[in-house]
Amino acid sequence: MLAKVTSFAVIGLEGAPIEVEVDISRGLSSFIIVGLPDTAVQESRERVRAAIKNSGCKFPGQRLTVNLAPADIRKAGPAYDLPIAVGILAASGQIWPDLQSSIFVGELSLDGGVRHTNGVLPMISVAKAQGYQRAYIPAEDAPEAALMPGIEIIPVSNLPELVGHLQGLNPIPPYQSQFDSKLLDQPRYGTDFRDVKGQEHVKRALEVAAAGAHCVLMTGPPGAGKTLLARALPSILPKLTIEEALEITKIYSVSGLLPADRPLITERPFRAPHHTISHAGLVGGGHWPRPGEISWAHRGVLFLDELPEFNHRVLEVMRQPLEDKIVTISRATGTLTFPANFMLVAAMNPCPCGYFGDPVKECTCSLGMIHRYRKRISGPLLDRIDIHVEVPRVEYDKLADDRLGEPSADIRARIERARETQRQRFAGAVGGANGKVSLLCNADMGPAEVREHCRLDDSGKSLLRAAMTQLGMSARAFHRILKLARTIADLEGAPEIKTHHLAEAIQYRPRRQI
Ligand SMILES: Nc1ncnc2c1ncn2[C@@H]1O[C@H](COP(=O)(O)OP(=O)(O)OP(=O)(O)O)[C@@H](O)[C@H]1O
Ligand SMILES: [Mg+2]
Repeated sequence: MLAKVTSFAVIGLEGAPIEVEVDISRGLSSFIIVGLPDTAVQESRERVRAAIKNSGCKFPGQRLTVNLAPADIRKAGPAYDLPIAVGILAASGQIWPDLQSSIFVGELSLDGGVRHTNGVLPMISVAKAQGYQRAYIPAEDAPEAALMPGIEIIPVSNLPELVGHLQGLNPIPPYQSQFDSKLLDQPRYGTDFRDVKGQEHVKRALEVAAAGAHCVLMTGPPGAGKTLLARALPSILPKLTIEEALEITKIYSVSGLLPADRPLITERPFRAPHHTISHAGLVGGGHWPRPGEISWAHRGVLFLDELPEFNHRVLEVMRQPLEDKIVTISRATGTLTFPANFMLVAAMNPCPCGYFGDPVKECTCSLGMIHRYRKRISGPLLDRIDIHVEVPRVEYDKLADDRLGEPSADIRARIERARETQRQRFAGAVGGANGKVSLLCNADMGPAEVREHCRLDDSGKSLLRAAMTQLGMSARAFHRILKLARTIADLEGAPEIKTHHLAEAIQYRPRRQI
């Protein structure tokens, strides 16, 4: 007897159908799995055997062959346990499932329990696109799977329950999504901008950055509030749209980072990796490539505190993703691409002692030391940062002032208006530097979109020309200034870029200081 069961693998962030063929024939009792399985799949034999026996079903004592097709996709992880068990039970005539239109995913425990599997959301979205009508998913993962409407989700907690369902004795009711899109409207925040005293120009710079998803570098003496300001940034970021939330959730699902109680990521990610992070930890990698911090910060913020402390090489690998908004990882087994459209926010001191340029405390570093310290961050990386802002020490009067600043909610309202303008401008278009980015905000624009949307009048042109020569700017800086000026105009609600928008954008470029 032969049975064919459909299951799914995840390659990168995409689900791929896997056919699990089970053949039972006469002969000595044996159980083999073929079709490029890794060790976890080979071990599946023991789990499946025990789970079937402990569920009160009969494990056939004949020659059992399982083939996982297509053979060129390497099958990793334990998620094939459930489809293999279903295949065996169907081939031995113990259950009669509708195998044509259903998919099965899940790991089995020895007692027949069905366990959580990573990457359920990407699998379900492809299954739905390919016309499958029903998905048997670990009960724990049902809320995540049900985010994708239009496919029936049957939550399976254990094998005996599934057997009862497939025999038609005890049907399991399909999972009804409890998800409420209002959750996206109530993100939770830690620090509020209201509590940050002074630093008005830094707050303005962060507002501009958040409005267009531009990168920021804050430089200043110890204790000036750089880390505090960066941590307050999530509170002014615009709410996620449902498309963005699903994009982020897929990345977290594949990485196994989705919290058990929250099927959908409803807040923009804020990732702050420590400076000892490795190259693979930052951009992704490993034998079976996994997304790294830059992908976990997709559509959110990657905060690198104490930037010069990061390994020089580790920082350099961010150069390509910062331009392309995706990261490509090549392995002998193929090339994978993960989204990495993040807003880089970095903080550093101006010199090793921290007080260079401080009006109160004298800097004790030699010029050579300062040069060496700053050289740890390469020119090309600095060139990719749109907004360079200094964070000076806060004076006593400002700190001791009891009046609160502008609350984050007010700032966020302005930013959301500016983002809405941008959303309408691009209207779901695809483009950007590599032509494949779905355009949502000004920072996503490539040269073609810059040409179309960032036109200057004559006085703007002559101002930019003067700035280019005086500041020795690159062609990249030229484009970045135009994008930034577009965001500043959007914040003001101005359809055209005016000279004062451009002047503010130019002022955020780095100046030579020593
Ligand atoms: N502008 C401010 N308003 C209110 N509190 C502030 C401000 N700046 C600093 N503080 C206080 O000082 C603490 C230290 O600030 P923070 O850690 O942000 O400094 P930093 O600039 O990151 O310094 P370092 O360069 O040493 O990392 C904050 O936790 C906060 O209590
Ligand atoms: Mg700090």
